[in-house]
Amino acid sequence: MMEHRELVRQLEEVSIFESLSEKELSELIACSQLMTFKKDDVIIFESQEGNSVYVILEGMVKICRTNEEYKEVILAILGEKEFFGEMSVLDGATRSADAVALSRVRVLRIDGKVFLEFIEKHPKLALSLLRELVTRLRKTDSQIKSISLADAVGKVASVIVRLAHDVGRVRKGRVEIENFASQQEIANYAATSRETISRVLTMFEREGLIERDVNKIIINNFEEFKQKFGE
Ligand code: CMP
Repeated sequence: MMEHRELVRQLEEVSIFESLSEKELSELIACSQLMTFKKDDVIIFESQEGNSVYVILEGMVKICRTNEEYKEVILAILGEKEFFGEMSVLDGATRSADAVALSRVRVLRIDGKVFLEFIEKHPKLALSLLRELVTRLRKTDSQIKSISLADAVGKVASVIVRLAHDVGRVRKGRVEIENFASQQEIANYAATSRETISRVLTMFEREGLIERDVNKIIINNFEEFKQKFGE
């Protein structure tokens, strides 16, 4: 019972469900499943059929694609109260990317048919979903700009800003990005090499733009950082 109420409270904070009542959220939960994954578990496989949408209740998930040589590009990092798996459910095509747990991850798995029925019944849900998809398209557009036009410093700056938005903890203009990914994963997100990430992070640290601790990057003045790199 407690678990159910806690779940409703968590779903109320998911942007696409903000227009649903407690009763409607309970209905949604009743047809869904709670699932737990370990770090590095693959939750969704690219190219497979997709008939469910996942809401992240705890942890972080990377959305990525891999080529034949196992080189990976990270398209997005999603955290609590975000969702994934909606694309195949909406267009009926296969999964567009892998979704891999970056930490222990708890999700609510919603059946695709139920998700579509809810969209049909609740136009406000459809609008919030569109808004969220537009936000993702804007992020992807910035990523394309950075990958195609920026130099190494610009690419690393851009990925740090993206990570700060995705998973950072903001306090009084200071952002802490904690224990989220390896330098190789940051490189895969910036579409550059691990060596470049290492070199530029060291340079940023020397210039006092960031501080580094074990598995942690701290940006002391996030606004200044963004302005300096035109983000
Ligand atoms: P689907 O294609 O069903 O499975 C993979 C999921 O990754 C996809 O649905 C989206 O939820 C998510 N996804 C794919 N591309 C992006 C992106 N550029 N930004 C954020 N999420 C994405």
